[in-house]
Amino acid sequence: MGVSTKRIVKNIEKLLKKHNQSHLFAFWGQLDESQRNNLLGQIQELDLAKIDGWVANFVKKPISTEISTELAPARSYGPAPADAEQKRKYVKAVKLGKELISAGKVAAMVVAGGQATRLGFDGPKGNFPVSPLKNKTLFQIFAESITAVSEKYQTACPWYIMTSPLNYTETTEIFRSNNYYGLNQSDVFIFQQGTMPNFGFDGKILLTDKADIACSPDGHGGSIKALYKSGAIDDMKKRGVEFLSYWQVDNPLVNIIDPLFIGLHALDEAEMSSKALIKAGPREKVGNFCMADGKVTVIEYSDFSDELAERQNPDGSLAFQLGSIAIHIISVSFVEKLNTGELSLPLHRAVKRIPHIDEAGGAVEPTEPNGVKLETFIFDAIPMASKSVILETRRSEEFAPTKNATGVDSVETTRQMMIARAAFWLESAGVTIPRKPDGSLDCVIEISPSFALEKDDVKAKLNKIPEIKSGDKVYLS
Ligand code: UTP
Repeated sequence: MGVSTKRIVKNIEKLLKKHNQSHLFAFWGQLDESQRNNLLGQIQELDLAKIDGWVANFVKKPISTEISTELAPARSYGPAPADAEQKRKYVKAVKLGKELISAGKVAAMVVAGGQATRLGFDGPKGNFPVSPLKNKTLFQIFAESITAVSEKYQTACPWYIMTSPLNYTETTEIFRSNNYYGLNQSDVFIFQQGTMPNFGFDGKILLTDKADIACSPDGHGGSIKALYKSGAIDDMKKRGVEFLSYWQVDNPLVNIIDPLFIGLHALDEAEMSSKALIKAGPREKVGNFCMADGKVTVIEYSDFSDELAERQNPDGSLAFQLGSIAIHIISVSFVEKLNTGELSLPLHRAVKRIPHIDEAGGAVEPTEPNGVKLETFIFDAIPMASKSVILETRRSEEFAPTKNATGVDSVETTRQMMIARAAFWLESAGVTIPRKPDGSLDCVIEISPSFALEKDDVKAKLNKIPEIKSGDKVYLS
């Protein structure tokens, strides 16, 4: 170790002591040179002054978010226009949306940096096979949708994919080995979000081994900073992209590029807009759209009081009925604006099981939550927008997240919803679909994005649809 490195080590030791994190150096004497460099690099990345604040306000305090303001329900555009005037607006919005897509002003963006702990899948969630007949992965379904968009609108549609340092290499390798699913490599931009250290309940940063700090991705809200830092925003500006169509990697039903949604966002001069659905019940585990201080705001289900969740309108419907499904249009200029000056999305605290090493250096695999991860959420940017539009959509058309291995929001429910939507699209175009006496489907159908991106695309393909009989398995491409 040279003299200057020794000095750096001394300074860091002092700093760690000042911030109550001296244990990070506990095994220093046992590390070889490359491990020491590795650990030093990780510690130098930590903003210890900020971390003191996080420990005091989030790690040691068990409240995630304090809601101090009066909340009112948010208003939305309906899935269909409410009256003649709105009908004219929807027609205008679809026309504008299509023009913007054709002009190459809209790009696709998926956040795929999560750890998918609930699904328990080994590898990036985007590589999870989900389609009912062909077992296509989530990434493949999205890539085929983007190809179909490019063909439909005769334009390139670049795709920005957020990963984390924990799954970046694997994700890029998946794309490379699948030949970018037929997309131009230059139109696929894979970037990385930041990470946050993980803490024990006592505020001490955890180590995963003697030379590595335990850390996890900084939440989907990390995308705002990561888009900027990674050069993705510069790439968009070079291409003339003005709007990002944002979704989560676990929802294969998403209408990736929706002209109506894009058109309404642009017509209303919004900076960040959202799709919503009517919640299945007062405590469905989705964020709640509210108005707070005149701004559209999403409050997580865990921070929403029972009184608000269960409040009813005179007709018995839920007062706060709009749930967030993490589908947004975000203006590129808004991401830039958020990145000038000190960008600070609020932190949220999640109590988790975090594998780590103990004071003696022994591995601990906790069976109960033992620490805190901190994250930021993308929807916390919505109140920072000068204007924000909400478009209500139908669950059966656009939301089937694969969160769990079994049960609610699982692979099984996602597949069933993909099949049900395919059957509905065909029936809407006049195709007879075999059903059992109880009305449930008696066939399996998979519609490839190249066949139809939305319901209305089916009508032009009627001559390609075979007769579908009971028990048939039909793949339409
Ligand atoms: P989830 O909240 O479902 O988290 O993320 P997850 O990590 O995928 O799954 P669990 O909670 O460990 O089971 C919603 C979306 O946000 C992305 C995920 O990839 C998913 O598309 N995400 C989440 C990120 O991109 N980065 C993050 O730090 C967190």
